[in-house]
Amino acid sequence: MRNKERACEECGIYSEKYALPVTTSQEELLELINTLNNKSSISGILVQLPVPEHIDEETIINAIDPKKDVDAFHPVNVGKIMVGNYDFVPCTPAGVMELIKESGIEVKGKECVVVGRSNIVGKPQAMLLLHQNGTVTVCHSKTKNLAEKTRQADILVAAVGIPNFIKGDMIKDGAVVIDVGINRMENGKLCGDVEFDSAEKVAGAITPVPGGVGPMTIAMLMKNTVKAAIVNKTHKEE
Ligand code: GUN
Repeated sequence: MRNKERACEECGIYSEKYALPVTTSQEELLELINTLNNKSSISGILVQLPVPEHIDEETIINAIDPKKDVDAFHPVNVGKIMVGNYDFVPCTPAGVMELIKESGIEVKGKECVVVGRSNIVGKPQAMLLLHQNGTVTVCHSKTKNLAEKTRQADILVAAVGIPNFIKGDMIKDGAVVIDVGINRMENGKLCGDVEFDSAEKVAGAITPVPGGVGPMTIAMLMKNTVKAAIVNKTHKEE
């Protein structure tokens, strides 16, 4: 959240942060969302997940005005992504696509394997790769013979949340490896879902953790926020 706030400052985007106590009730949170939905100086709303156990995540996401949903988590925006006609793209998968594009890597016709099926990363990531004409396989914790699948990948996106889960011997020679994982190890250091040292020996291109996908996620949040400002202004003028 600190990095998101700082990025807003750097971009000249006005922001308000509500660091609510863990005891905040669902009703209080819904009230705040309602206030922000109706506040004309606010273009985008983001509730940092996870929320405490006594709060229902789905109820909270559904309460955000889809036009201000810069995370693209609201079912209206999720549906639009599925159809392929969208204003907002979830920030992490959007960051991954931007890295691929900026590196001059073509997705069309490539074997793309996404490891992880979360609503935040895995599922929308698969959709975005599909929109770019990749052949997409989504793997998860119940996938049998996972290494067999990951070794097929020309583009491998790891988003499982398990430290060093993908090893070098699970990667095809020359593959593009994008590590979405941010895991804190016992020694306090951050590591990804990919075992970097063994993976970089086989990969054609690989993102580090930290410093790979993370900064891209925040950049994409800024992009969605600017889009939201445009969308909401248009809406008000209608
Ligand atoms: N928690 C982990 N990733 C995210 C994200 O992209 N958005 C929000 N709101 N919470 C998160």
